Amino acid sequence: MGKRIHCSVMCVGCTLLGIASVATIVSLWTIQLLDPEDTPEKSWDKYRLPDTLLPDSYNVTLWPRLQPNKDGLYVFTGNSSMVFKCVRETNVILIHSNKLSLTKTNGHLARLCSLGCNPVPTIWKTWLQETTQYLVIQLNGYLQVGESYQLQTEFEGELADDLAGFYRSEYDENGEKKIVATSQMHPTHARKTFPCFDEPAMKAVFHITLLHPPGTVALSNGKETVSHSETKEITVDSTAVIQTKFEPTKPMSTYLLALVVSDYSSVSSQGETLIRIWARKKAISDGHGDYALNLTGPILTFFENYYNVPYPLSKSDQIALPDFYFGAMENWGLVTYRETNLLYDPVISSNENKERTATIVAHELAHMWFGNLVTLRWWNEVWLNEGFASYVEYLGADYAEPEWNIKDLIVLNDVHRVFAVDALASSHPLSSKEEEIMRPEQISELFDAISYSKGAAVLRMLSDFLTETVFVQGLSTYLNTFAYKNTVGTDLWFYLQRAVQANGIVLPRGVHEIMDRWVLQMGFPVITINTSTGELSQQHFLLDPESVVERPSEFKYEWIVPVNWMKSGVVQPRTWLLKKNATNRDMKTSVGQWLLANLNVTGYYRVNYDLDNWNRLLDQLSKDHHVIPVINRAQIVDDAFNLARAKMIPVSLALNTIKYLSHEREYMPWETALDNLDYFYLMFDQTATYDIMQKYLKKQITPLFSYFRNLTSDWMTIPAGHMDQYNQVNAIRVACSTGVESCQNLTTNWYQQWMDNPDHNPIHPNLRSTVYCSAIAAGKAEEWEFGWQMFKKASIASEADKLMSSLACTRDELLLNRYLSYTLDSTKVRKQDATSVIVYVASNVVGQSLAWDFVRKNWRYMFTEYGVGSFSFAKIIGGVTQSFSTQHELEQLLQFKKENSGVGFGSATAALEQAIEKTQANIKWVAENEREVADWFTNETA
Ligand SMILES: *[C@@H]1O[C@H](CO)[C@@H](O)[C@H](O)[C@H]1NC(C)=O
Ligand SMILES: *[C@@H]1O[C@H](CO)[C@@H](O)[C@H](O)[C@H]1NC(C)=O
Ligand SMILES: *[C@@H]1O[C@H](CO)[C@@H](O)[C@H](O)[C@H]1NC(C)=O
Ligand SMILES: *[C@@H]1O[C@H](CO)[C@@H](O)[C@H](O)[C@H]1NC(C)=O
Ligand SMILES: *[C@@H]1O[C@H](CO)[C@@H](O)[C@H](O)[C@H]1NC(C)=O
Ligand SMILES: [Zn+2]
Repeated sequence: MGKRIHCSVMCVGCTLLGIASVATIVSLWTIQLLDPEDTPEKSWDKYRLPDTLLPDSYNVTLWPRLQPNKDGLYVFTGNSSMVFKCVRETNVILIHSNKLSLTKTNGHLARLCSLGCNPVPTIWKTWLQETTQYLVIQLNGYLQVGESYQLQTEFEGELADDLAGFYRSEYDENGEKKIVATSQMHPTHARKTFPCFDEPAMKAVFHITLLHPPGTVALSNGKETVSHSETKEITVDSTAVIQTKFEPTKPMSTYLLALVVSDYSSVSSQGETLIRIWARKKAISDGHGDYALNLTGPILTFFENYYNVPYPLSKSDQIALPDFYFGAMENWGLVTYRETNLLYDPVISSNENKERTATIVAHELAHMWFGNLVTLRWWNEVWLNEGFASYVEYLGADYAEPEWNIKDLIVLNDVHRVFAVDALASSHPLSSKEEEIMRPEQISELFDAISYSKGAAVLRMLSDFLTETVFVQGLSTYLNTFAYKNTVGTDLWFYLQRAVQANGIVLPRGVHEIMDRWVLQMGFPVITINTSTGELSQQHFLLDPESVVERPSEFKYEWIVPVNWMKSGVVQPRTWLLKKNATNRDMKTSVGQWLLANLNVTGYYRVNYDLDNWNRLLDQLSKDHHVIPVINRAQIVDDAFNLARAKMIPVSLALNTIKYLSHEREYMPWETALDNLDYFYLMFDQTATYDIMQKYLKKQITPLFSYFRNLTSDWMTIPAGHMDQYNQVNAIRVACSTGVESCQNLTTNWYQQWMDNPDHNPIHPNLRSTVYCSAIAAGKAEEWEFGWQMFKKASIASEADKLMSSLACTRDELLLNRYLSYTLDSTKVRKQDATSVIVYVASNVVGQSLAWDFVRKNWRYMFTEYGVGSFSFAKIIGGVTQSFSTQHELEQLLQFKKENSGVGFGSATAALEQAIEKTQANIKWVAENEREVADWFTNETA
């Protein structure tokens, strides 16, 4: 910005007094300042802010340029004036600043003024400390405890396409390139937008002003002070701009700020809260924001009642962005989303897209209270924030879509998914030590399945044994007590415990003591129940029993375990396992009775039984599986396969749990079985066993395929139930991939019809991913080319996503290599999608080694060129190594680790260790099980 910033009137008015006092102070401290002992030991080399200063408010004006400058760069300029208070005497101000170019005034990168007439030390020296991302301001004197000061900066930054901080997103509208200036501050990118105390506990009030071109709309956390339609142009630096000011925010963390300038339009509703959904004009006029708008009101109401706290803000904006790194971001009052997650087109979107919109909107809105109103003090406990939202998103979505039974799906999407990661010796506890999480990449690494899914799973377990009423009562007191403040996780336990007492709930131990076992130690137990003696025992469940757990636990890997169970279909009173083992005589069964534990998988653990009980469960499954609750039918399969992996039961027993599937029509057990068989496919894809497996699965899927053909009048309609719709997709996918002929004809015909008439796609949205994939796999270059053209043309992101994954299904290596190379060219594959494309290719039997070669060859380039913010390196490593099961592959992996140790692995460091551990376990597993698996399938197909 061309304009000079002036100190406040107060500051100027008191100059004389100020200077006089400063002079005295300077002379007093000069000698000490020269003494190196006196400078606090290099505080600017530490990643955490010192506890000397607290922010109060920021006034920030930003002006993003939506046209490149003469050097072809997109930039933004800005100025900031912040007020902070000194709470511990200091002569240095550290404030985060990253990749900003700060303008000098009087030779310094910032100006310091007083508020009122108190003396202000003069600035001695300022510089940018790049590694720790600070603007360092050394003073010729000390700031006084209790005094407030004002710090002013003026700066310029790049409005890059790096998806971090204030950045730009591009899209094409009728052949015209459009630029959106948008932001992603979380977790540590606010400092890339303006100098700030960029830690979650440094809450402040933000007065935001945006300058932007006429014809565009500016949005931020607060509501605009003058309605968008009444804005006036002003001239700054002889450029006509609109100045939009926003209402000051509530006290909040920097990572929740949001700024957007676009020429979007919106749909809105005005109840007690103004709700708006923003997107590209065409998406809005086509009605793609309507579903999100329909959802938001009810979901906000749901959470207001659930938390018993009114929605804290005057408006709720949600916006869909063409380029966005995460799925969505819960900026307070202005939630940002990938287009696929917010926009819904009744004609083109699948039921999965619809569900995703409902759950993500619920997730982000849940954060408006839990996370935004009350915020964890530091990132080491981010699991509580993310786990919580990942749990209650199911409750919010269930309220909006009660027909879906969506609450059941947490078991597949979160519990089972994270069991796979948390059963590794290289896993980590939910909560880390505060001092272990310092650098931005350490913070980023925490946003993993453990934080989200295990967090959700253990909170669901907690809510179950407290009862939902007590859980929400404690939660509500917690939120009311800490509104606009920060907490540590134990604060929540404290208020839940109070609710437990107030309601006379009997627990064997306090909430804090029970939860510490689940939060502070990694992993989870397997509970073994012997139904002939009634003895229960627990043991840390490790997928590879020979792996070595190096991380010590003060709880010795024992948990306090709530056990919900039933006997031959009759629910029994909950029992607790408080130590290594115990005996419960009621758990003894008599002849023909079976016992089933962990009902509905509300507990975060697996269950094993004596062989007799397993056989009775199998017997029940084959006679009448409906007696066993559907979630537990999925659990029996998942536990059995994983217990077999861990060598606790024979692999043939695990395989026996899928025999009954020829009678199963429900989605959850099928999906679980297919997931587990995927592992067998990955391990045996290069062996003779593969063909026998295919033959067996074809036999098992055929009845399901026929069932859906019947249910849909020969594929003319779609099943009514949400889960049935999912299972229809499974039926087609597996029938086609195992070679059920009528299936392949079906998908190839549909795709051919579409190729013949590209303007009319006859394939139902639910089935598109599967049909495209199956047709492209069966087809040649022509089918692929057509898919690629349709991908480039797709104006609906969810449609583009379906094509994007299907393009990786081709069996042609040349095409796969071409597709991989596109991930390095953002005009072909958006940066946000590059990771997914690589992982999709790696999931294809033919593409696996190509993707691995590609990653090895380009690691250095991708890592240094893109770094944080565009590739998810952890996902890439996990994806390309998932089928590794030979010594040769292990050696390649170790070699890769060695060769790139100089470049580093950043946020993929843990993923690489996991990949090595998994590969070692796979090698052993194949050696030990190949024979038995092959025999089982051979027998069953004989
Ligand atoms: C910020 O702006 C508000 C409203 O315009 C004003 O009252 C306040 O004094 C300003 N604060 C600073 C630090 O400039
Ligand atoms: C949104 O709600 C309106 C009114 O109930 C309804 O007519 C419309 O079909 C809904 N739109 C979507 C996409 O669900
Ligand atoms: C626990 O296991 C030990 C060793 O197997 C056994 O001696 C003991 O009786 C068991 N305790 C209970 C309460 O079952
Ligand atoms: C298990 O979940 C089903 C479906 O969500 C529900 O109907 C049933 O009541 C639950 N059972 C128990 C014991 O909680
Ligand atoms: C499909 O429907 C026909 C007639 O309605 C019936 O005879 C057949 O058993 C059904 N098949 C399946 C798998 O449900
Ligand atoms: Zn979240």
